[in-house]
Amino acid sequence: MDKSAIISKFEPQKDNMLNILHELQNSNPQNFLTTEDLKLVANYLNTTYSSVYGVVKYYSMFSVEPRGKYLIRICKSPLCNMVGDKSVLNDIKENIGIGIGETTDDLMFSVEASECLGHCAEAPVMMINEGVYKNLDSKKIKDIFQNIKLNHKNTD
Ligand code: FES
Repeated sequence: MDKSAIISKFEPQKDNMLNILHELQNSNPQNFLTTEDLKLVANYLNTTYSSVYGVVKYYSMFSVEPRGKYLIRICKSPLCNMVGDKSVLNDIKENIGIGIGETTDDLMFSVEASECLGHCAEAPVMMINEGVYKNLDSKKIKDIFQNIKLNHKNTD
């Protein structure tokens, strides 16, 4: 779907800005918003480029830089931190070779820190794109990445 078609699914009201930005970002295989995206949204909502840019910079889920096809968000809130943050980070690094704030050279994975992901009772937790993974341990993390790599290979 082209960008204008995505935007025009929404009423041209500023309340819809976050939803429009989400859809545009999700439609980009590198998980980011381009300058063109921000201009289109500003035009459509009859606002300035800088106000759209301000929103994008405020929310950590948005990026203006290319990111991996699979965006991993690790909960850095106290509970997940207590239960297994260090080992989750180590296990991720062991499986895909990168840590927080990094993207793999093949643009497959990016890792970011996140505030509470809303599943504290099942800590430690991470998200990969829209999927939530709970009660993480080394085996689960290994399986998750093996599956992703396998599925990716099968869709090449
Ligand atoms: S503290 Fe990690 S999901 Fe809430």
